Amino acid sequence: MRLKRTHTCGELTAEHINQEVILNGWIATNRDHGGLIFIDLRDRYGKTQVTFSPEKVPEIAADAKRLGLEDVIAVKGVVSPRPKGNINSKMSTGEIELDVTELEVLSESAPLPFLVSNRESGSEELRLEYRYLELRTAEIQRSLAIRHKTYQATRSYLAERNFIEVETPVLMKSTPEGARDYLVPSRLHKGRFYALPQSPQTYKQLLMIGGFDRYFQIVKCFRDEDLRADRQPEFTQIDIEMSFVDQDDVLNLAQGLTRSIFKRVRGEELPEEFPRMSYQEAMETYGSDKPDVRFEMQLREFADFASESQFEGFKSVLANGGRVKAIVAENLADKYSRKVIDGLTDWVKTYYGVKGLAFMKAENGGLSGGISKFFTDEQLASIRKRWDVADNDILFFVADEDGERALQTLGALRLEIARRENLIPENIFKPLFVLDFPLLEFGPDAGRYVARHHPFTSPQLEDVPLMESDPAKVRARAYDLVINGYEVAGGSIRIHQQAMQQQMFKLLGMSAEEAERRFGFLLKAFQYGAPPHGGIAFGFDRLIMLLSGTENIRDVIAFPKTTSAMSLMDEAPSFVDEKQLKELHIRLSEDVKPAAE
Ligand code: AMO
Ligand code: AMP
Repeated sequence: MRLKRTHTCGELTAEHINQEVILNGWIATNRDHGGLIFIDLRDRYGKTQVTFSPEKVPEIAADAKRLGLEDVIAVKGVVSPRPKGNINSKMSTGEIELDVTELEVLSESAPLPFLVSNRESGSEELRLEYRYLELRTAEIQRSLAIRHKTYQATRSYLAERNFIEVETPVLMKSTPEGARDYLVPSRLHKGRFYALPQSPQTYKQLLMIGGFDRYFQIVKCFRDEDLRADRQPEFTQIDIEMSFVDQDDVLNLAQGLTRSIFKRVRGEELPEEFPRMSYQEAMETYGSDKPDVRFEMQLREFADFASESQFEGFKSVLANGGRVKAIVAENLADKYSRKVIDGLTDWVKTYYGVKGLAFMKAENGGLSGGISKFFTDEQLASIRKRWDVADNDILFFVADEDGERALQTLGALRLEIARRENLIPENIFKPLFVLDFPLLEFGPDAGRYVARHHPFTSPQLEDVPLMESDPAKVRARAYDLVINGYEVAGGSIRIHQQAMQQQMFKLLGMSAEEAERRFGFLLKAFQYGAPPHGGIAFGFDRLIMLLSGTENIRDVIAFPKTTSAMSLMDEAPSFVDEKQLKELHIRLSEDVKPAAE
């Protein structure tokens, strides 16, 4: 190219007036005002108005007129003040424009599938197909800049505190637990497979045994699981592990790192001490292990009222060991017609599998409608009193024999109502730690206990005796960092003794042989001086979602995948050549073969 930029498109101000400069960039707008051509030239740094005068440079102005959106050009010219009325105080370059004297067209754009200036002009599918164009939009440019700043803030905070960054393998042994592994066939070792790491969990523990007492890594993880708005098949973690620590040390580190990131990236002061809440309290009061505490509408206990009522539905749930809980949605009774309530009822039935959604409305100092007929006036009055119910509030109730399901359903309803009614304050951040998670949960599919966090998590020491007698009651030394209803990070203090690790594998239904086959390398390492250790991993993408204020994880990843794990731009995953498969000793079954060309 002939005309190389001397400045960026976001740089020129009144200070540069009368200087001769060169700009390179994309055409964001091209307007013809009675022969005078105005182009907004854009790059990563901003936009600058450049003008082509048909009197001064007739040929160039004629060429400029023909240029289209997103053509790439170079212009040389003199920085001039804009006429008084045309000053744009919203643009950093709004005081000036460039009087063009030379033009070089570097590359022309084909007609655009959507407008870079208006992301909504194309469907998300179309934008993902042309992701490189979407990368030019202000939204993605901004979130990737935030992502960049967050890498820097993370590295400097941790490096300043003696953490050492170590890379761990991407091709590892398959040890599925939790999500499905992505497998990579080995060419050299017929019939064998590597797995892509779901996280570097075993490696970071081995690094502790290797004497690196403070490790971190910003690392890609791969999980073949059901995807959602905040989940990608490949995502990034800030992975951290520390030796000679207890839970408080890890939480304090995670808190310090989070505060430092929010401060450096957003100028946001988070509380010095993040509140801590037990898993049990989170479930009881918010119906979620990742409570959004930006608003109230907490869950209320309804068992005592229900058991004294005439409502057989609730009484039988209680008699069978279930739970009945309620929420009070303030000042919505008049707005929530029969139709709205029926809609919500269908929603909880479909998505949460509960039998129904009961309600009462507060009016004229009492409670009426819905299930109020099953209660005496006296009972209704004491419900109003206990919960401080005001006229026009609406009360929702859910009962289920599976108590956890009742809690989760009301937790979801709480969020749904808050979203619909705009009850969630924006631009505030409410971090908290959730602690004391159960060590195990019963996996109905597996027909056995599965680790709630992962099989390397230590039980709380006082609960160790329960591992034999009542495993479901054992609490883990595990913790999550939750911000605004997102699980931003999770971790635990680990088991560092071989015998305890073997006991844990046994609880998970693994025979000694199976444990040896899958995790023998770790059990062996524990024999050679394993320090007590623990750690945490941040979902980096979720952190960036919060920092940049988006609810779509695809907005913070340069080249994301769809919820069906496709890359629409390059069409991965794709069929491969027969020759490649042959080398890998793989034959496809007839029903999945690509159609013959
Ligand atoms: P965990 O499985 O909880 O812990 O993962 C840590 C954090 O990673 C984020 N995350 C995801 N983000 C985007 N897409 C996904 N599919 C996805 N899955 C998880 C979440 C989560 O809190 N090795 C342990 C950590 C440890 O014990 O130190 C682990 O991976 O924000
Ligand atoms: P029924 O007596 O089954 O007609 O139910 C009366 C009301 O209670 C209906 O509005 C149902 O949606 C609701 N309901 C029934 N079972 C439950 C339950 N387990 N939890 C919450 N509401 C329920």
